[in-house]
Amino acid sequence: MEYRVTLIKGDGIGPEVTGATCRILNAAGAPIEWEEAPGGLEAVEKFGHPMPESTLNSVRKNRLGLKGPLATPKGKGYRSANVHLRQELDLYVGYRPVRTLPGISTPYSDVDLIVLRENTEDLYAGIEHAINEDTVLTLKVSTHRSGERIARWAFEHMRNHGRRSILCSHKSAVVPLADGAFADAFERIASEYPYIEHDQMPVDSLSFELALDPRSFDVLLLQNLYGDILSDLAAGLVGGLGVVPGANIGDQIAVFEAVHGTAPDIAGKGIANPLAVLMSGLLMLEYVGERKVAQRIEKAVFDVLEEGKHLTGDLGGNADTARFTEAIIDKL
Ligand code: NAI
Repeated sequence: MEYRVTLIKGDGIGPEVTGATCRILNAAGAPIEWEEAPGGLEAVEKFGHPMPESTLNSVRKNRLGLKGPLATPKGKGYRSANVHLRQELDLYVGYRPVRTLPGISTPYSDVDLIVLRENTEDLYAGIEHAINEDTVLTLKVSTHRSGERIARWAFEHMRNHGRRSILCSHKSAVVPLADGAFADAFERIASEYPYIEHDQMPVDSLSFELALDPRSFDVLLLQNLYGDILSDLAAGLVGGLGVVPGANIGDQIAVFEAVHGTAPDIAGKGIANPLAVLMSGLLMLEYVGERKVAQRIEKAVFDVLEEGKHLTGDLGGNADTARFTEAIIDKL
């Protein structure tokens, strides 16, 4: 069986890291046919929109996508291409596994967290306006339906993957309605899974606790903005943005992408770490049940990391993207 996957190369380092990922997946014999579709600045030039309908249709048809980071032109009235993609395709789960990798030295060993971010609501709903020259209003949207469906997804995922405890984190003391709705939805669904430990914590306390010692946490469930911020924080605990993969998952469709952005400071230099997008590609292979090939590539990656000879600059080495990619392919 061959899977057709929509490939959005993205902006900045996007083409470099998605290019490396495709090379490695192809070299490992992953049964994928790539269907390229534009997004970001390239799409603005061609279609006048950073996430054109034709790209959304390609993902709708294939139900699978691999995406590089996208830039959204500022001050030109465009909404974020990423937010648009997630909302239009109803990819309500932002799934970000954050774990310690071999050969990468960080203050904590054995970190194994899953950050789950509600992907469609909150301040990202994009409802804002100026009510006078001095004041703007931005609305935080939170529905019981969305709170419940991501909580249910979280508990089902934990049940199927043997995860032990889940923490819902928010700021309901200050935002009682919007955050309270999310917390209430979580409690309602949690009562259906009495064999899974669950708890709640204010998001500021969680940030502090994560910095102190992330190893006591397992699965974290957050609204959109808190999840966005804490995913980057969690990435910092295991080696940085270059190593943390992610997925945007809905009931029918999933688009896989790294947590990081377009990294304009290093774009075009050929030195970006492709690991985060590559590991997102492995999540995709696992998602469709191609576990064997995913595990083979993961082993090759771990061997290269453990050897430490061909690491990119963000991991303390001096290999460029191409050398790092070749080292993984050699291990395959
Ligand atoms: P960023 O993640 O692009 O960069 C933050 C820092 O991490 C930079 O120093 C960068 O060089 C480094 N970094 C990121 N990925 C790396 C990699 N693979 N290898 C080595 N170093 C890496 O965040 P920033 O600078 O805040 O955002 C830049 C642009 O990306 C913005 O336009 C933003 O809107 C966009 N963005 C897009 C995302 C997406 O498409 N999902 C997610 C986050 C930001």
